[in-house]
Order: sequence, then C-alpha cells, then structure tokens
Amino acid sequence: MKSIIIYGSKYGSSKKYAEMLSQNLGIDHFDYKEFNMSNKYDVLIYIGALYAGGVKGLAKTLSNYPPDNYKKLIIVTVGIADPKDLKNVESIKMSIYKQLPKNLNKDIELFHIRGSLDYSKLNLRHSLMMKLVYQKAKKVPVEQQDMETKDLIATYNKKVDFIDFDYLRPLIERYSKIKKEVRI
Ligand SMILES: Cc1cc2nc3c(=O)[nH]c(=O)nc-3n(C[C@H](O)[C@H](O)[C@H](O)COP(=O)(O)O)c2cc1C
Repeated sequence: MKSIIIYGSKYGSSKKYAEMLSQNLGIDHFDYKEFNMSNKYDVLIYIGALYAGGVKGLAKTLSNYPPDNYKKLIIVTVGIADPKDLKNVESIKMSIYKQLPKNLNKDIELFHIRGSLDYSKLNLRHSLMMKLVYQKAKKVPVEQQDMETKDLIATYNKKVDFIDFDYLRPLIERYSKIKKEVRI
C-alpha cells in the first residue's frame, strides 16, 4: 500500500503531528505547498490546521490534485477546540464538506486532534481575528457560554499546548486495519 502524508501548518503544530505520524507509520510527509501532484497513492492522509473552520491548504490541494491519483482520503484536523465536545466536531465536519471539491467521489475518513496556540507568536492578521472572536465571546452572558467560548475566554492572550502523540493512536490503529482489510 503506497501512502503519503500532506500537511498544512502555519505555526508548526500540524507539522509536528505530520512528523510524528510519518515516523510511526514509515510514510513520507510533505508540506502541501511542496507536494508533487503527479504522484499516485493508495491513501492520502491530509493533516491540516483549522483557521476559522477552514483546513489550511486542503481546498487548494484537493482542487489541484487529480482525484484519480489517490484512492482513499483521511483528513486530520488540528485545532484548539476540544474534539471530545461533539458540538465542535459537528461544526468542523460541516465546514470540511464545504471545502471539498464538488462530486469528489472518495472514501473519506475524518479525525480531529488538538494542537497549540501561542498568542505571542501570531501574525497581525491572526491576532486581530482572535481579538474579534474574544470580544464577541465576552458579550455572551456567562450562563449561555458553551465550553468552547469559556475555553477561549480563559486562554485568550496566553499559550496553550495540547500536542500529544496519544491523539494519533486512533488514526494509527485505523491505518493498520486499512492495511490489513482493504487490499488496495
Ligand atoms: C485566527 C485563528 C483562527 C483559528 N480558528 C480555529 C477554529 O476554527 N477551530 C479550532 O479548533 N481552532 C482554531 N484555531 C486554533 C488553531 O487551529 C491551532 O492553534 C492549531 O494548532 C494551529 O496549527 P498550526 O500550528 O499547524 O498552524 C485558530 C487560530 C487562529 C490564530
């Protein structure tokens, strides 16, 4: 089975996960900007950072990479929202399907993991975006704030790091099953 890991990362956490997974599975990994679109694979694992619901580089990669060049697609989102919260997962899923090319007739599996966020490292645009999100969150009455809003307010302007190899375990298990079960 020939597989590849492609990642889209701005501040490095998705890249870190791509490196960990690459080492564990023995699969090459590439930044989506450097990926050779003419190569063919059985499984494409895309690891991308979430920015306002968008998965960094995903839409661009899938619209340029011919669908005939791969058989199965695994998308791993790296965000700060807790994927144990089903509400977060639902909203990530909804926005992912909007980023996929229309009529992409592929077997797709999704995984959601947590990255890191260091406000002191953000560029001006991202810093302003987070400020707006924070100001909006602060206006929500405390009793109406969901977990994501509470977390955002509590961690605003700080450094949070949830990077953990354990987040990759379900994906690693699934990958070894695919290898055994599906003869592609
Ligand atoms: C402007 C901005 C928007 C973000 N939007 C989301 C989001 O919609 N959902 C989420 O879970 N995390 C969001 N995050 C957090 C990032 O996804 C998180 O920091 C991730 O680990 C960044 O990955 P990277 O280091 O590979 O770039 C956002 C962060 C910034 C700065």
